[in-house]
Amino acid sequence: MDKKILISLKLEIKKLIIANWKSNKTALEAVYWLEELNKNRGKINFETKEVVVAAPYTALSSCAAYIKDNNIPIKLAAQNISEFGIGAYTGEINGVQIREFADYVLIGHSERKRYLHETDEQVEKKITQAKEAGLSVILCVQDDNSFIDSRAEYIAYEPPNAISTFGVGKAEDPQNVENVFATLCEKTNARLLYGGSVDSKNIDKYFVISGISGFLVGGASLKAESFLQLLS
Ligand code: PGA
Repeated sequence: MDKKILISLKLEIKKLIIANWKSNKTALEAVYWLEELNKNRGKINFETKEVVVAAPYTALSSCAAYIKDNNIPIKLAAQNISEFGIGAYTGEINGVQIREFADYVLIGHSERKRYLHETDEQVEKKITQAKEAGLSVILCVQDDNSFIDSRAEYIAYEPPNAISTFGVGKAEDPQNVENVFATLCEKTNARLLYGGSVDSKNIDKYFVISGISGFLVGGASLKAESFLQLLS
């Protein structure tokens, strides 16, 4: 078989598993987590899983250095990006600064919409910045009516009530996820991910959903041990 076709088939089979640490971990704690993962990397089947860590901005640099020094086959994501480019935007982190360390960026997470009142217009601007910087976009949507941008490579369906942060933490019924995916498929060619209280006990129920390409994992990714359980 043509090598290119083989590689793209393999990529399609690989599930993207993203650890979303949210506003947790100092740079030191982040590296400690990576050390734990590295010690146990033999347990992870990297042939079937592509692992991404969405670290806080402050940990991206030290995580990138540790990953490179130890040759770990995982990638980094930022959890947000400035809607502006390089320049006089005090406190903002732009796409070029992120691209120095990360390959992916999460955009439009429901926590940002809820606590920071992020709008669809801002989401759109952020996607523009991400694309200009050469980042792959993981666009979070809350339902099948949420704003979708055709430039996003990944769409992560994360019903707010299923996210453990909001205190409910009841993972969405896999059948509902499949139904929402069916609607999303009509609107986008992006690869579809699910997020919301995914852990090592329930992940298998979602693996079988038609059209699923991976997961966003919050709470269950905070301890390296529980994330490893989910990956093995
Ligand atoms: P959770 O978070 O796994 O803790 O529910 C998922 C997310 O918000 O990305």
